[in-house]
Amino acid sequence: MSWQSFPKVELHLHLEGGAPPAFIRGLAREKNIDLSGIFSDTGGYAYRDFDHFLKIYEAACTVLQGPEDFYRLTLAVLEQSAAHGVVYSETFLSPDFCGGGDLSAWREYLAAIEAAADEAEATLGITLRGIVTCIRHLGPDQARPAARCAAETRGRFLTGFGMAGGEMVGRPGDFAWAFDAAREAGLELTCHAGEWGGPDMIAETVSHLAPSRLGHGINVIHDDALVDKVVEDGLVLEVCPGSNVFLGASGDWADHPIAVLRDRGVKVTVSTDDPPFFHTTMTREFEMLERTFGWGEEDFAALNQTALDAAFCDAETKEKVA
Ligand code: HPA
Ligand code: ZN
Repeated sequence: MSWQSFPKVELHLHLEGGAPPAFIRGLAREKNIDLSGIFSDTGGYAYRDFDHFLKIYEAACTVLQGPEDFYRLTLAVLEQSAAHGVVYSETFLSPDFCGGGDLSAWREYLAAIEAAADEAEATLGITLRGIVTCIRHLGPDQARPAARCAAETRGRFLTGFGMAGGEMVGRPGDFAWAFDAAREAGLELTCHAGEWGGPDMIAETVSHLAPSRLGHGINVIHDDALVDKVVEDGLVLEVCPGSNVFLGASGDWADHPIAVLRDRGVKVTVSTDDPPFFHTTMTREFEMLERTFGWGEEDFAALNQTALDAAFCDAETKEKVA
């Protein structure tokens, strides 16, 4: 069956990573920026591996130069999400790509993103919330202004703080200041961990940064005791199977640990991460889960409920979306 119109809740989506290649090409043309090196012959994003992906991602972001560009980007991304049945979404936003961590610039970018989200909610019926992410490979000193931006703009729309980027750079504890500042400001927390790093990285992330959710977290599968702890603590995993398979963070779909983790009692959710980069959509994620593990309507309804329970929004919003 096609799962396209089945309502979906998505928790892990990088806003810039959702940019359709044609959108980035269009902006490049408008601004006379040569980005030909980042696209394949067939027009998609082209890169070799995760580190190269991060470079191509950053190159694509160079055409996003002001709040108006982010307004258009947000609408373009939400149109795609809504077309695949997403009714509630959370997106990672990076002050590093929105004014470089300058608070007054960030306020303008955020206002534009929020205006687009409001418009999409009215016209497409999709609700969006924002999570500021610091970028790990830029280091802890750069994470501080990102956390300050997040803390100063926490509100109805901006509800979370997290960390993305190169997971193997530095240690989680290096970023404790940023996570503490965000927590003290009342933001909810998530952190990429266990996509490339092993159980040690997950354990350190949990003990030093104390997020309620982990981005990916799939490598917990290699440590039984840690799986038990994740279950006990009620930690939620933002699993992105299509991304993992495409980038080689896991084996093929049949080897992906999401089903085993779910059956062991881990709270798993499903997201696309950076859909055009990984040639996926929420519909395709559901289709592959059905094809690989035989998941059906009940399984997907349970996934949605887990995601909504773990969503960084208030009870009123959850009720409206459910
Ligand atoms: N992983 C880590 N960092 C990122 C990603 C991702 O998929 N996309 C953008 N930054
Ligand atoms: Zn991610």
